[in-house]
Amino acid sequence: MTAEIISGTQVAAEIRAELKEKTAKLKADKGVVPGLVILRVGEDPASVSYVKGKEKACDEVGIYQETIVYPDDVDEKTVLDKLVELNNDPKYHGILVQLPLPKHISEDKVIDIIDPRKDVDGFHPVNVGKLLIGNPYFMPCTPAGIQQLLVRSGNDPAGKHVVICGRSNIVGKPILAIMLQKKDGANATVTMVHTGTKDTASVTRQADILIAAVGRPKVITADMVKEGVVVIDVGVNRVPDDTKKSGFRLVGDTDFEAIKEKAKAITPVPGGVGPMTITMLMWNTVNAAESASA
Ligand code: GUN
Repeated sequence: MTAEIISGTQVAAEIRAELKEKTAKLKADKGVVPGLVILRVGEDPASVSYVKGKEKACDEVGIYQETIVYPDDVDEKTVLDKLVELNNDPKYHGILVQLPLPKHISEDKVIDIIDPRKDVDGFHPVNVGKLLIGNPYFMPCTPAGIQQLLVRSGNDPAGKHVVICGRSNIVGKPILAIMLQKKDGANATVTMVHTGTKDTASVTRQADILIAAVGRPKVITADMVKEGVVVIDVGVNRVPDDTKKSGFRLVGDTDFEAIKEKAKAITPVPGGVGPMTITMLMWNTVNAAESASA
């Protein structure tokens, strides 16, 4: 069996087109333009590049966006005070603080002070708790994107055994909460494996759907999956590659080339989960504006 390739680029484009229609309708019917404010501290090149991608996506789907940039040595209070001000500014339906932050600023304090109804990252403890219960204001963007990839590629998780590799707060734990819910696009039997798991392969071999969010290159090998599995690879790992101008290439957490000969479907890296994350940020922001104007 050679796997169908689940293109995140394609699914993301489809969702962005839907969101563009929604923002146009919101404006025409209610005079509301969804607004996202991004707060960035310092000039970390990866953060600068991620934020640029978010700004571009906002422009594409019709979201008003603004980025506030602070220098690396800004004090914590300035950032927290600004977030309180933004919580109360009706122009912004979503607030995003680009992480990581410099060490002297507490990420917990920053996340805690954002109004959960504007927390389009879905990182606030209220949203984390509400996700587990099953009624979050927002789902975190990468796991929400994984759910959309599965459903829209015809691989509904209902009744399937989903095995998640990795227990991070940003991907592993929230995708577990999402897949567990008794709801459309979920209702799966869910198992999680992590660094404390004994005989990981005996568990991953049971997966109908395997979600790899480990953060290490190609650790999920073909002998660890069964024939006909659906694989979602969340990994974005840089490995040295002399044939590239940059000196590196991106690979996932799974051995794509070998697994694609065994799987029913698999996401590529890049072009799989990656393009979905920013798209779901747009989704959350448009939904926030809809809820605020309902
Ligand atoms: N830094 C890397 N990924 C993310 C993300 O999803 N949200 C925020 N706020 N910062 C990030």
